[in-house]
Amino acid sequence: MTKPRLYSGMQPSAESLQIGNYIGALLNWKSLQQTHDAFFSIVDLHAITVAQEPAKLRENTRGTAAQYMAAGIDPSASTLYVQSHVAAHAQLAWVLNTITGFGEASRMTQFKDKSARHGADATTVGLFAYPTLMAADILLYQTAVVPVGEDQRQHVELTRDLAVRFNSRFGDTFTIPEVAIVKETAKIYDLQNPTSKMSKSAESHAGVIWLLDEPGVTKKKIMRAVTDADGGVVFDRENKPGVANLLTIYSVLASRTIESLENEYAGRGYGDLKKGLVEVVLGTFDPIRERVAELLGDPAELDRVLAQNAARASDVANETLATVYDRVGF
Ligand code: ADP
Ligand code: NA
Repeated sequence: MTKPRLYSGMQPSAESLQIGNYIGALLNWKSLQQTHDAFFSIVDLHAITVAQEPAKLRENTRGTAAQYMAAGIDPSASTLYVQSHVAAHAQLAWVLNTITGFGEASRMTQFKDKSARHGADATTVGLFAYPTLMAADILLYQTAVVPVGEDQRQHVELTRDLAVRFNSRFGDTFTIPEVAIVKETAKIYDLQNPTSKMSKSAESHAGVIWLLDEPGVTKKKIMRAVTDADGGVVFDRENKPGVANLLTIYSVLASRTIESLENEYAGRGYGDLKKGLVEVVLGTFDPIRERVAELLGDPAELDRVLAQNAARASDVANETLATVYDRVGF
């Protein structure tokens, strides 16, 4: 039986991934790669929709690939590749641009947010066209399942609309993908500002746990995490967001229920909870950090694996693109 096709990706927008990317994406991908024919991309074409420093982008792209692998994405079981290595992404995106309404693209809330954040001068056509490139990413592989956070739902819905539109105008070409929204329970918040999502692009790094931070730095950040004056180790997202966030991270990484953690730490205070969490986080990230160093220490081998995976991705993508080109009259 063939496994359902799955596509997901992350931008190489920082040197290190943060713990939210690990919990919200990589851990999930690692289990999905068993049951799906998975394509995991490092989406550097998306990254340049905002200004990037070229040498840094190149380094972050290879670093992100190494972190995918070190976290358990197996490049022989899944297809793990760099988006710009597969030319069909940009080629299909152009065709999709020509069937996307300007008004339809203008309704994308992420574009509105990002363009407001970056200002008119830094808002490029590329940023505007981000969702059609994402649609190309997904549709090229005849993807059945797209696991994304709630913030990407609108983009996957646009992808579905474009696939339906193309199919009805030009003949059956694309599989219509299903949105698989990743559970909100896996959402991680900034340690210093526990009501806002932890992010690679956070302005301050004080509340961000990076995969590649030195152990001492991780420890300090966790011990300084914002909590509250109440003192009880109880999961209450609304009234105790800091403690709830620490419990969430602990629970996911230690594979324990929130309830068992509440019981263990009842009456013991936040210092103990934080110390316990430091152990769990370092226990997870120490081996990943070591593996990343090994992978980056052998660049020829890393490049070989990425080239091999890009070739595999290209084979699938080019088949879809050839059909598309034929259908539109090229
Ligand atoms: P970032 O905000 O760190 O740049 P992205 O928006 O590029 O992250 O998302 C990459 C992946 O990581 C997505 O699958 C997203 O759902 C997941 N992710 C990012 N931040 C978090 C978080 N704080 N909690 C859970 N998952 C997250
Ligand atoms: Na981001």
